[in-house]
Amino acid sequence: MDYTSYLRLPQLLSNQQMESAKHGVPAHDEMLFIVIHQTYELWFKQILFELDLIQEIFGGTRVDDADLGRAVHAAERIVKIEQLLVGQIDILETMTPMDFLEFRNLLMPGSGFQSEQFRLIEVRLGLKRDARLAFNGASFDASLTEDARKRVVATEAAPSLRDQVDAWLSRTPFVDMGGFHFREAFAAALDKMLSQDMDLIQAHPHLGAAEKELQLASLRNSRAMFDGLLDDKRYTELQAQGAWVFSRRALQAALFLFLYRDEPAANAAFRMLKALMDMDEMLALWRMRHALMVSRMLGRKVGTGGSAGFDYLRATADKHRAYNDLFAIATFLIPRSALPALPDEVRKSMRYRYEQST
Ligand code: HEM
Repeated sequence: MDYTSYLRLPQLLSNQQMESAKHGVPAHDEMLFIVIHQTYELWFKQILFELDLIQEIFGGTRVDDADLGRAVHAAERIVKIEQLLVGQIDILETMTPMDFLEFRNLLMPGSGFQSEQFRLIEVRLGLKRDARLAFNGASFDASLTEDARKRVVATEAAPSLRDQVDAWLSRTPFVDMGGFHFREAFAAALDKMLSQDMDLIQAHPHLGAAEKELQLASLRNSRAMFDGLLDDKRYTELQAQGAWVFSRRALQAALFLFLYRDEPAANAAFRMLKALMDMDEMLALWRMRHALMVSRMLGRKVGTGGSAGFDYLRATADKHRAYNDLFAIATFLIPRSALPALPDEVRKSMRYRYEQST
């Protein structure tokens, strides 16, 4: 075994073939363009590899504590990779639009729309077909090869990580344990906090009537949203309006884990939810950076894949999110000091302690 053969460097390093050179007009920046895209695809491969592990762990009917730690670790690794992927845009932006024009036409009709691995990442994280933005009347997988499309469709038919996390959260104990019902205990604490906030706003010396009404309406809205978490029928209506995607049980459990994250039994689960939010945020950031880069490269031109270019890509940063629900939970968070105390039975089952040996 040696470095060169282990890494298959002769094959790897002979895979950067500049189209411009083939046409007898070598464009210096095309090498960077190829290397950047290839490294993206390598990192996509690693992300999918980490998702294999995470989805295997979440795929069963129970998630073992030790395995949850491994899943969190893999999820946090994905976040780090995504940070790198956002950073790579800085390097590509050293290519100016005019340098890009030297070879852009040679790429037609090649496009990022043809990246199978990118679509697989989106689908496996939980982005659903009907939640996607339409572009040019084409479906998002129309540009893929027949084989790649089949693999994407098969992946869509399998549970996504979001589906698996939903099922896992729905099984969270502690939320209803013995005589303890988290929803009721928390509703009382939330009401107390909201009414204190309302008093504060109403008595505020520097807020005008219109500003007060705006703030009060926002608090009333938070309470109405929370009502939805308490009532099945209301929740189904909210889900139909697109306000929530996760199941009601899963959301209640996620709220519980956010609030009681300091209890040892909630800690790893909270880190997993945080990693999912980080992943979602990083991907949104990549979409936005990519869109801005596209706007500086192409201006208002349409993409080689036929989309509206910048406008479409910018809108995906907002709409193509798989874990929005976890972000929305912040609507209901209250300070630690206002948290209802957990009954002994629940607290004991969430903690471990080491007895002193005699
Ligand atoms: C000069 C640099 C780039 C330009 C001008 C550019 C342009 C575009 C455009 C216009 C689209 C919309 C689809 C279309 O109509 O073709 C697109 C989509 C896409 N591009 Fe790029 N791109 C660039 C670099 C990259 C890089 C480095 C990657 C890394 C993998 C990438 C990955 C993608 C992906 C995955 C999509 C699909 C996004 C989605 O549908 O949400 N692009 N690109």
